[in-house]
Amino acid sequence: MALLSQPHQLSVAPPKLGGVDHLEWWVGNARTFAGFLCAAFGFAPVAYAGPETGRRDRVSYLVQQGSVRFLVSGGLSPDSAIAEHVRRHGDGIRDIAFLVEDVDAAYDAALARGATGLRPPMDDVDDHGTIRHAAIATYGDTVHTLLDRARYAGPFAPGFTETDLHAPVGAPVGITRADHVVGNVEKGALERWVGFYEHVFGFSRLQHFDDDQISTEYSALMSTVVWNGETVVMPINEPADGRRKSQIEEYLDFYRSPGVQHIALATADIVATVRALRDRGVRFMDVPADYYAEAKDRMAGIDDLPWADLEELHILVDRDPNGHLLQIFTETVTDRPTVFFEIIQREGATGFGEGNFKALFEAIERAQARRGNL
Ligand code: FE2
Repeated sequence: MALLSQPHQLSVAPPKLGGVDHLEWWVGNARTFAGFLCAAFGFAPVAYAGPETGRRDRVSYLVQQGSVRFLVSGGLSPDSAIAEHVRRHGDGIRDIAFLVEDVDAAYDAALARGATGLRPPMDDVDDHGTIRHAAIATYGDTVHTLLDRARYAGPFAPGFTETDLHAPVGAPVGITRADHVVGNVEKGALERWVGFYEHVFGFSRLQHFDDDQISTEYSALMSTVVWNGETVVMPINEPADGRRKSQIEEYLDFYRSPGVQHIALATADIVATVRALRDRGVRFMDVPADYYAEAKDRMAGIDDLPWADLEELHILVDRDPNGHLLQIFTETVTDRPTVFFEIIQREGATGFGEGNFKALFEAIERAQARRGNL
């Protein structure tokens, strides 16, 4: 990881992003992890690449729900870069891939503005057309692929074929899009990484939370949300001093570097989505028993909230001047206590549930204590 290592020329216009194309997981067993996303979370298998399609070193499954696309990849040999990544980090998000119109211009601009290049622009070609792509480094061992699929008409990318995964697939649960993708960085590094997204991609700051806003008896964190003004929303967290180890430090200890902490998946009906997920065995963070009495006070004046369902399903609520939101966090979905999902329904609110942070962190700390890591 080299951060803003080159002199940066901010006079060069930043890359123009067309949104997140997909998120790539590097895992120990791609078939099983993709199968979990399909069986439990209702993702549909779309495409597969592996030895049968001419890729010798890895298998990859693309699964999709709404506009959310996860590429799940596993290595096929001990010297595979994926195997090495999994050995160090456990299962995790390797790539937050951005769509761009002009890969060469985007890559050149990113490097001119201080990014570290990992893969210069190249074409992948098959009978369905061409995908041009490049990659730059971001926090930890995480990367941003920059890709243009305007000239491609196949199921995902060259080397991929349609697949049914040969595994149980649950009905969709109502996930429509990725709302935000959150990274954890080292203590003291938050401002550098916010600066990285400001410099390299021209992102702006949407919100900042100080440790006095996000703290419990034991742990604290600071968070700044950067975004491209449209659909790419990336909160970044760093641990702050608390009496005990913060949840961000636990992540950094086990992931062994900065990396993606959670992906928020949007739904228009969180009660139906969470009920379906719970029915299929997805486990969520607990909520303190006294949460709902306090929440009803906080949400006074918003009359149409289904309190009985929210309480039964442990869904959290928050409001800001623009409206309200409902959200819930899964337990970590990886073996190490690192990566989890959020399910979020926005009813006008543009925040991230900061009114829930304290309740949430106390729940996370109970889970940390059970793991002996608090
Ligand atoms: Fe979130």
